[in-house]
Amino acid sequence: MSLEKEINKRKTFGIIAHPDAGKTTLTEKLLLFGGAIQEAGAVKSNKIKKGATSDFMEIERQRGISVATSVLAFEYKGKKINILDTPGHKDFAEDTFRTLTAVDSAIVVIDVAKGVEEQTIKLVEVCRMRKIPMLVFINKMDREGKDAFDLMDEVEQKLDLKVTPLSWPIGIGATFKGIYNIWEKNINIFSGDNKQKISETTKIEDLANPELDDLIGTNYAENLRNEIDLIDGVYPEFDMQEYMDGNLQPVFFGSALNNFGVRELLDAFVDIAPTPQSKETDLREIEPYENKFSGFVFKIHANMDPKHRDRLAFIKIVSGKFERNKNYFHVRQGKNMKFPAPNAFFADKKEVIDESYAGDIVGLHDTGNFRIGDTLTEGEKFTFKGIPAFSPEHFRYINNADPMKAKQLEKGIDQLMDEGVAQLFTLEMNNRKIIGTVGALQYEVIQYRLEHEYSAKATYEPFAVHKACWVEVEDENTEEFKEFKRVKQRYLARDKFNQLVFLADSAFTIQMTQDKFPSVKLHFVSEF
Ligand code: G4P
Repeated sequence: MSLEKEINKRKTFGIIAHPDAGKTTLTEKLLLFGGAIQEAGAVKSNKIKKGATSDFMEIERQRGISVATSVLAFEYKGKKINILDTPGHKDFAEDTFRTLTAVDSAIVVIDVAKGVEEQTIKLVEVCRMRKIPMLVFINKMDREGKDAFDLMDEVEQKLDLKVTPLSWPIGIGATFKGIYNIWEKNINIFSGDNKQKISETTKIEDLANPELDDLIGTNYAENLRNEIDLIDGVYPEFDMQEYMDGNLQPVFFGSALNNFGVRELLDAFVDIAPTPQSKETDLREIEPYENKFSGFVFKIHANMDPKHRDRLAFIKIVSGKFERNKNYFHVRQGKNMKFPAPNAFFADKKEVIDESYAGDIVGLHDTGNFRIGDTLTEGEKFTFKGIPAFSPEHFRYINNADPMKAKQLEKGIDQLMDEGVAQLFTLEMNNRKIIGTVGALQYEVIQYRLEHEYSAKATYEPFAVHKACWVEVEDENTEEFKEFKRVKQRYLARDKFNQLVFLADSAFTIQMTQDKFPSVKLHFVSEF
């Protein structure tokens, strides 16, 4: 098969949702359709279980599962579909943000009763900013929930999206009858006991056809006719380009648990979801069909066996074909590397492969060469953009609790930061190290992993920071910048890439600093 054909087969996406909306259940049903798994229950949820004995034990469990579910691939209707796992728990939000740099589209799952929730808002915002095409799936239609039109309004308002339904529910909860597929003009009747089966649909070319009354009863049929009329008047017609540009989001309804409405979603997905897209670098835009391979690291996973410190670096292939044992150029380190055992991911296993194409994810064994955001090429020197760090929410000093193990501690911190577990800031004034995290949970994880994987002991000390602000100045030699550095010296630090960061203790401080030093720009994201 030609390179272009291989690449055009691929659809790589992520499912984003607030925890409990049904991401795991939907993933599983998609895999069932693809024949990638045989029964429900095969996909393990990697969410943090409520009431777990200890948070870090739970994270360890989660870490084990998340290797397995990092990438789930299956074939459906001649397409190769790669689902990238995106943790919904807020303490892993940064992981999810980074994974979203590797997807070409996203499916947003919303619980019909809870509507738009907090994590959904944050994750959708990231997709919206990056213009990632999104499909919306309203889940749990078998339960009582909000009115479909009200939900559409809520999605538009709270997520700032422009929506149009491609399927529409008939009834809800106890009276849920089925789904009218606007995209294909057919009806799928809900029987409530077809959990594992792929349900039959009835073609309805014309809603005026009395057959519809026989199928769902006159009241429901009348209601559906009215609602579809209303939809035609209120919502824009689906437009491929608008969807691709991230300006229009089609909405589907269903019940993942009952495997209902999922086929409609998947069929539309394979029809409309984008194939691998081009990506910006600091040099030029890279097209997927370029003959030469390029890709970037969006995730690093430590080996679960603490005795072997090798890691798995997840590479999104942006262009061309990746081949086993071929020399590739590690741009940041300026050296060539080859990979004798690259992994490809399937629904239930990972396997060593000989080649892989743009759109795919390969897992490379790594002994400490990779860092999140690193670029691999066939020799050309460019770095992919759009893998920024966000300001952490929590900050603490990290101290060495065992003077004999200073080296181990340093190495441990270094590697955990490369993995993206947290961010390290080094104060300019005294070189003290500060760990910034998205969730408080990560501090436990770091302490635990330092001890178990690196035999190092760390303690923390509070450090009151509100936000990390990356500093941008046009000219470092102005009096204003010198004054800024003098006044703020106690709060200036360097991140891992040696970028200057101002650790501001309050929103008020940020405001005051901006007013006083207008030529010093402060950013909450490391890439600007
Ligand atoms: P998540 O990955 O987004 O966190 O959600 P997950 O799929 O784990 O689903 C959360 C809960 O919602 C699960 O129940 C799941 O069975 C249920 N669920 C998912 N889809 C539907 C649906 O269409 N209808 C109904 N009624 N429930 C749905 P749980 O009791 O929390 O977990 P479990 O013990 O059943 O696994």
